[in-house]
Amino acid sequence: MQSVFKTYNRFPFEITKGDGVTLFDDTGKKYLDLTSGIGVCNLGYNNKKVKQAVSDQLDKVWHTSNLYESHLQENVAELLIQGMDKKVYFCNSGTEANEAALKLARKATGKTKILAFDHSFHGRSYGALSLTGNDKIKEGFGPFLPDIYFETYNSADALNKIDSSFAAVILEIIQGEGGIVVGDYTWLHEVEKKCHQNNVLLIIDEVQTGIGRTGKLFAYEHYNLDPDIVTIAKGLANGIPVGAMIGKNALADFFGPGSHGSTFGGNPLAMSAACAVLDTLDEAFLDDVQQKASFLWYFLEKEISSLDSVDSISGKGLMIGIHLNQSVPVNQVITQLHEVGILTLSSRGNTLRLLPPLIIMSSELLEGVKKIKEVLQNETVSL
Ligand SMILES: Cc1ncc(COP(=O)(O)O)c(C=O)c1O
Repeated sequence: MQSVFKTYNRFPFEITKGDGVTLFDDTGKKYLDLTSGIGVCNLGYNNKKVKQAVSDQLDKVWHTSNLYESHLQENVAELLIQGMDKKVYFCNSGTEANEAALKLARKATGKTKILAFDHSFHGRSYGALSLTGNDKIKEGFGPFLPDIYFETYNSADALNKIDSSFAAVILEIIQGEGGIVVGDYTWLHEVEKKCHQNNVLLIIDEVQTGIGRTGKLFAYEHYNLDPDIVTIAKGLANGIPVGAMIGKNALADFFGPGSHGSTFGGNPLAMSAACAVLDTLDEAFLDDVQQKASFLWYFLEKEISSLDSVDSISGKGLMIGIHLNQSVPVNQVITQLHEVGILTLSSRGNTLRLLPPLIIMSSELLEGVKKIKEVLQNETVSL
């Protein structure tokens, strides 16, 4: 590729076709996908229901504007808030959802200070990047937004830091780009308690963890948390660009007409896809994800965790980080897995990240584990 900015390190092949959990490259080579396109195509590729919904909508109208009523937006919003006293703002990406959250938090509280976490990832616009705890990807782009503070995730220092001078705390339940770091149950509750005691809004970024990834619609449900704002994107429309911010109704007056907006936000194609996705993610579907995840975790523990090349495994549901020994570079492993027809991802700290489509069958998960084991067993480890 010559004419496109090289903002991505790309592998030297193109994915040209997909069906279910199977992808094909431009040479016809077949892959078992354990990435979902970085947690997006949770219902797999060429999903019939999503495709039909988008195709039906294409025949009606694929763009109007936000100057008119939209029953599709209302439907998706209702499916997201599930009867709770909340409202939804629609946009086009996770970055935009966090941007909206940041703006709403500052306007609603009249305060500017935000607490975020080291190794977090919230996106790459100035607002979202300002909230992101990764100096490497911020290099050369400063200055960033003022009044953003960082603390160590899961730390007591973070709890001590939260006081009434803050507008909001923003966190991921599992840090995805940050190396699949799972939030501690007690710590998350303490954060929420300190937020509520000090009139600080709790923003939970569910862009990667949400839409069934961990076996619940939102990962915070495992923890019975009560966030003021939740941001989502990725899996919401199974690959049609979309983002959303869900906020408590008490915040609604601060996001009134003219306060925020987006030309494409809540686009009819994205909304029709999102309806099909959310309609699919019922209790039975999510229970099935949890069962498959238990099966996968059993085999990860049994087959992978004791390998010399593996230090530890972390994650929840179908969001998994296999932390490799430093002498086994993750990108080398990913390339070797390509050769045997498996697509995987990396994450911070030499982590092999798995985000398989949620529709994957147990037998396919087992096939993936076996191939990963074969590749990892052949690695030379210097201990
Ligand atoms: C937790 C989290 N927040 C925000 C984003 C940014 O989302 P997008 O790339 O859709 O802007 C990502 C993307 O990986 C993410 O993982």
